[in-house]
Amino acid sequence: MDKILVIGAAGQLGLELTHALTDQFGGDQVIATDLKAIASSQFANCRFEVLDVMDKDALGTLVKREQVTQIYHLAAVLSATGEKTPLFAWQLNMDSLLNVLELAKEYALDKIYWPSSIAVFGPGTPKINTPQFCEKNPNTVYGISKLAGEGWCTYYFEKYGVDVRSLRYPGLIGYKSLPGGGTTDYAVDIYHKAIANQPFTCFLSEGTYLPMMYMPEAIKATLDLMNAPRETVKIRSSYNLAGISFSPKEIFESIKKQVPSFEIKYQPDFRQSIADSWPHSIDDSHARADWGWKPFYELDGMTQDILKHLPSFFPPQP
Ligand code: SER
Repeated sequence: MDKILVIGAAGQLGLELTHALTDQFGGDQVIATDLKAIASSQFANCRFEVLDVMDKDALGTLVKREQVTQIYHLAAVLSATGEKTPLFAWQLNMDSLLNVLELAKEYALDKIYWPSSIAVFGPGTPKINTPQFCEKNPNTVYGISKLAGEGWCTYYFEKYGVDVRSLRYPGLIGYKSLPGGGTTDYAVDIYHKAIANQPFTCFLSEGTYLPMMYMPEAIKATLDLMNAPRETVKIRSSYNLAGISFSPKEIFESIKKQVPSFEIKYQPDFRQSIADSWPHSIDDSHARADWGWKPFYELDGMTQDILKHLPSFFPPQP
């Protein structure tokens, strides 16, 4: 029987993915873990344990005791935060992945999920419809760690047969949890300001196109990839994945259709150069061909959905 361990379950992706895994496998089969004990209240339908993924012994004990068969390893320092503490970001992002891959080898786990990112691309990468295979020269420590991680995933698959699967997520946009430390996070914060009837100051310039994805799509893509038969998963570094591409000006205009009094101003900061090094749009034809991926949201549909649901998760502050 499948036994699923989620590492970093209280994060932006982790929270929603853990709930989806609980729906798929049943609450008894899912263990949510995070560094933050306070997060336990968010996991009413499955078990929660405090876990530091850097503590390989504690992780190994948990995997053995609970007879874990699959690990979703989501803990990471993201792009903007990583630039403030580069060595710590490198250590956390790399050592944690190696801990998971080693245990997967040692205990012959069935499957591992580990997210990569559009941050693996860099200034030398083609920006429009960025191909799966092309030049990658990331210039953030987050991107460097994700690219190195992709190499380690391929290595453990080829050398030891570890069935590790991965997606290069675009910027993820959801309303159920707050993001933490990403360059794409303006596209979440903007909705919080809109429902509070406050003006939004954007840390990117108005024309900065970035690949983004609405959270329900990211969850579906992740589960589709993990449920795909082993032989259909042909890329063992990480799959390109595309949702919607837009600029701050376009998301602002989409919100303004619903909130006519909404105002924005632009004050680019250090995150602008990170965004400028990333693609505008992504070619995900390998994901479509190999395991049937197809995105289903467009910008206005996402905006309407978020504005409808966000206030019940985060009531606007006066
Ligand atoms: N959303 C991430 C970030 O901005 C990119 O994967 O750091």
